[in-house]
Amino acid sequence: MLELKLNGIKKYMEATLVVEDVSLEVYEGDKVGIVGTNGSGKSTILKLIAGIEPMNYYPGYPQTSSYGYDEGHIHMSRGATTAYLEQSPAYPKGLKVIDVLNLAFEEVDGIEQEMRELEEQMRVLQGMELEKALNKYSDLTQLFEVKGGYERDEKVSKVCTGLKLSESFLKRDFDLLSGGEKTTVVLGKLLIHRPDILLLDEPTNHLDMESIEWLEGYLKNYKGMVIIVSHDRYFLDNVVTKIMEIEDKRSISYKGNYSSFIHQKEENMRIQFEHFREQQKKINRMEKTVLNLRDWAMRADNTKFFKRAASVQKKLDKMDHIDKPVFERRNMRLDVRAAERSGNETIKAAGLSKRYGNKRIFDNTDAMIHFGERVGPAGSEWKRENHFLKNACRGRAAG
Ligand SMILES: Nc1ncnc2c1ncn2[C@@H]1O[C@H](COP(=O)(O)OP(=O)(O)O)[C@@H](O)[C@H]1O
Ligand SMILES: [Mg+2]
Repeated sequence: MLELKLNGIKKYMEATLVVEDVSLEVYEGDKVGIVGTNGSGKSTILKLIAGIEPMNYYPGYPQTSSYGYDEGHIHMSRGATTAYLEQSPAYPKGLKVIDVLNLAFEEVDGIEQEMRELEEQMRVLQGMELEKALNKYSDLTQLFEVKGGYERDEKVSKVCTGLKLSESFLKRDFDLLSGGEKTTVVLGKLLIHRPDILLLDEPTNHLDMESIEWLEGYLKNYKGMVIIVSHDRYFLDNVVTKIMEIEDKRSISYKGNYSSFIHQKEENMRIQFEHFREQQKKINRMEKTVLNLRDWAMRADNTKFFKRAASVQKKLDKMDHIDKPVFERRNMRLDVRAAERSGNETIKAAGLSKRYGNKRIFDNTDAMIHFGERVGPAGSEWKRENHFLKNACRGRAAG
């Protein structure tokens, strides 16, 4: 059973502490979304899993560690393959798009090459030698089959159709493509390659709606693990079964998709707020008690009361204070995130009103329709919605 575990990862980049305590467990078939503000360390975590970014331990770790050194461990099943979709991929000059896609078959190509060489040798071998070569050849054919050597064309054409990579596009120079096109091609290569652990950093940024939907389906049925960093909550909602949020350099994991994460987070905040309020009440009561006891102690000149006041004060000082949940921060970030389906904020309307003569069609309506959001006006009169859309499309708030 394929598994991946991150335990208490603390990671510095140069002198900057990027994350302090990140833990995550992923099993075969899991689809995990990593969310967090910009700079919270999402890409860093993917690169650590991919082995692109090394952990930098203090000599003698874990017995010893020191300020400025990384801590924690990454465990994954032996032999598990990983692949990371980087945000600006580069390949040697002169490669065509199809060549880059074919790099997914490096291993299969190696096996095939070995088979061809063996075939040559077997022509002249005899007896025991031939027997040995035949056995090896049989192993190689089996490996070739297991690695999908026979489904090569099928795999390529499936991904090319899904990501809309046309025949003519396949012949273009990879080096001369736009950043977005490059990312899409490399995404295609990774999907053809099918590693055990697929690590995707903002995979939907450069895809159109149809390709995003195709990718959602592809990833949902992916046999291995998929770990995705994305600001696209619709995409996450459709694909992931688990969310890891990085906040204040620490991770918290939630079961379910993005909506369920938001729901659980709100619930946790509500509970924390209740606890916070209860504790505040308790603190107030204790503070009052201290004042009263001191007051009585003075008036009655009684040291016993002073001692009691001091004892309550000590309890107060020792108390672990529950933080007030920061609602504003979350709301703020959600807004940012919603707007971050970048460039795709298709229709935004605020305070829209429409009148014909004295007849008010609608008044002060706000709406935000995102790219890819399939919105049908829900009002009772279609006419009303139709006016609304017309105004929105013309980009004016009519009076
Ligand atoms: N090579 C590097 N050297 C120094 N700091 C880096 C390097 N790479 C990333 N960082 C810092 O690490 C933090 C996390 O970056 P990153 O993992 O890319 O965040 P995210 O993907 O969540 O936006 C950022 O503050 C970034 O400036
Ligand atoms: Mg990033």
